[in-house]
Amino acid sequence: MTGPISRRSFMGKTAAAGALVSSVSILNSRGQKGIKEFKLALIGCGGRGRRASQNCIEAAGLLGVGARLVAVADWFEAPSRGCGASMGVPEDKCFWGADAYRKIMETDADIVLMATPPEFRRLHLEAAVEAGKHAFIEKPVAVDPPGVRRIIAAGERAKVKGLTIVAGTQRRHQSNYRQAAHLIHNGAIGDVLGGQIYWLGGVPWVKRREPGQSDADYLVRNWLNWSMMSGDHICEQHVHNIDVANWFIGRTPLMATGMGGRTRRETGDQYDFFSVDFDYGKGCHVHSMCRQNRGCYSRVGEAFTGTQGTYDGRVRSNAGKDIKVPEFTSGSGMVVEHYDLMKSIIDEQGLNDAERVAHATMGSVMGRISAYTGQVVRWSDVMTNENSAFYNRALSPAPEDFETGGVTAPPDDVFAVPPA
Ligand SMILES: NC(=O)c1ccc[n+]([C@@H]2O[C@H](COP(=O)([O-])OP(=O)(O)OC[C@H]3O[C@@H](n4cnc5c(N)ncnc54)[C@H](O)[C@@H]3O)[C@@H](O)[C@H]2O)c1
Repeated sequence: MTGPISRRSFMGKTAAAGALVSSVSILNSRGQKGIKEFKLALIGCGGRGRRASQNCIEAAGLLGVGARLVAVADWFEAPSRGCGASMGVPEDKCFWGADAYRKIMETDADIVLMATPPEFRRLHLEAAVEAGKHAFIEKPVAVDPPGVRRIIAAGERAKVKGLTIVAGTQRRHQSNYRQAAHLIHNGAIGDVLGGQIYWLGGVPWVKRREPGQSDADYLVRNWLNWSMMSGDHICEQHVHNIDVANWFIGRTPLMATGMGGRTRRETGDQYDFFSVDFDYGKGCHVHSMCRQNRGCYSRVGEAFTGTQGTYDGRVRSNAGKDIKVPEFTSGSGMVVEHYDLMKSIIDEQGLNDAERVAHATMGSVMGRISAYTGQVVRWSDVMTNENSAFYNRALSPAPEDFETGGVTAPPDDVFAVPPA
């Protein structure tokens, strides 16, 4: 798993690479410690994007620096203009359309916040890294194996450029989760033998197709119900819990054996529910359950059993160890993640979440492919084995198709059915 690297090793890496990107150079010229204000740009002016901007500005206040939104981009004009107006963004810096993200990269923003549907994240992160911008990337970060690998590659290029990338997996920034991870990693529950992870809730929303709406506009508007846009809810929501499993166990799953089905959904192509066995090796299995059906039992969380204790939101230890727990920054994970992002830039920590959020996303993609196909999906199938049928299994349309105009929306209510 990646994490903050020391200033010394960060400096060593960037020196070896021979160059720092322009925005970092500008910051360095006045001294990282001397930063007075971060300029932010937002791509995706929906509910999360607006809140992430506010969270980032609040976090800057905690760090004693300023932050302000200098540009916004959305697929549609109304959210771009609306968000821009409410956040004091000049009208000529409110962009919309398929290529609006490119205009963001031409601004003087230091940090780009990305909160579009997951489908577009790889394209936007690649552009941000190319432009030398630090990034906040909402989860999940891709919808298929090639997309996940592109995020990992972009993250590696960001490291070379000394850019910070923080992901919107806020549990990683919450003090209660950080305390539990610290205890578990220091042996409080012994070796983790297995666990259960849950995201059991309802369909957040449905947007039906409007008369005359283009295929691209329909998919963008109703993205939460289309697998190629969201990754399905095992990816869009349950990625949080899979990330916690990877974090607490300390490695990624070797294999996913999943099943799922669709009985109630009204639009799109997603499943109602998934049940996946994630095999983490060394005898450790995690049972993942996720469902979007209102009226059924709800639960979101994680539980693990170890050789010397358990975790179910609290660590219960029989290990008899006195483990010192450091002070972690308290407060909402959705604010602390931005605090960590800006602190990393100020202190030149080189915090880079790209690989680990990509790994969590890949776990969710493995579970979905296994359920859709009725086959076992191995980590090697999606990460290294180019001969595997799953390695290049890309969902369509691709993010680039939205810019070139090559988008055809599949018919609603046609979904994956495993072989009889
Ligand atoms: N960390 C969390 O707990 C959390 C919570 C909610 C949402 N999210 C994530 O945040 C992201 C956004 O979710 P949301 O709830 O804000 O959705 P939303 O539908 O409210 O907003 C998405 C916005 O992105 C715009 N958009 C779509 N495609 C675009 C493109 N190519 N270029 C520019 N703009 C584009 C849409 O028009 C819309 O305004 C998703 O990845 C979601 O999974 C994370």
